[in-house]
Amino acid sequence: MMLALNALESGYGAKTVVSNVSFSLAPGQILAFLGHNGAGKTTTLKSIMGLLRPTAGEILFDGQNIGRLSVADRVALGVRLLPEGRGIFPDLTVAENVSVVAARNVGAGAMFDVPDIYKLFPVLAERRDTRAGSMSGGQQQMLALSLAILGTPRCLMLDEPSIGLAPNLVERMFEQVRDVCKSHAMTAVLVEQNVAAAMKIADRVIIMNSGRIVFDGDPDEARASNFWSYY
Ligand SMILES: Nc1ncnc2c1ncn2[C@@H]1O[C@H](COP(=O)(O)OP(=O)(O)O)[C@@H](O)[C@H]1O
Ligand SMILES: [Mg+2]
Repeated sequence: MMLALNALESGYGAKTVVSNVSFSLAPGQILAFLGHNGAGKTTTLKSIMGLLRPTAGEILFDGQNIGRLSVADRVALGVRLLPEGRGIFPDLTVAENVSVVAARNVGAGAMFDVPDIYKLFPVLAERRDTRAGSMSGGQQQMLALSLAILGTPRCLMLDEPSIGLAPNLVERMFEQVRDVCKSHAMTAVLVEQNVAAAMKIADRVIIMNSGRIVFDGDPDEARASNFWSYY
């Protein structure tokens, strides 16, 4: 398994927000990680990334317990998060954004080096010298995705990447995420309010409610179930 959570419990200070969260994902598997606002999705992703320290449970990555590693060490192993609200440097140009992150995350034999990013998103190559914050929402999100995959990502977590994007752009971006994951055996965890778009590319659906998993199955089972009542 690429990523496995065993009875993860996490929160803020004395406040437990998620508990008993368990699932495991194989390489190439795409998980739609759903649930209403406040369900604990971001808290779970931050715990996997190392931005929050779990109070109980295990996080296994490729069989290794990474629960005590620093964020930087997890990034080096290939754990990547496209954070809620983007995560680009708006005052730097596109090329500067890419080179700052590449300097840190691209090593020898990397899966995605700078030229690979520009090949994947030609519009970013055209916009190399544009200030990132002045681009359209769709282009900024492509840049955010590029920064997240620079180097050798093995588990890509996307926290509400479609916010503010036009529906046709969302579909295109998600198809690109799926293609990249499938062709590189990369695991993805996609947190989305756009449930229909997320379920189109997902192999697996988990729904959180009040910090617990209330549904775990494939997209067809999810569509047939009464999980919509959690929204
Ligand atoms: N920094 C924080 N400090 C304290 N409580 C927080 C913090 N961030 C989120 N929470 C609480 O944790 C719960 C889950 O939040 P979150 O994981 O962001 O949910 P989701 O991403 O599913 O919308 C919410 O009740 C929220 O108020
Ligand atoms: Mg969130």
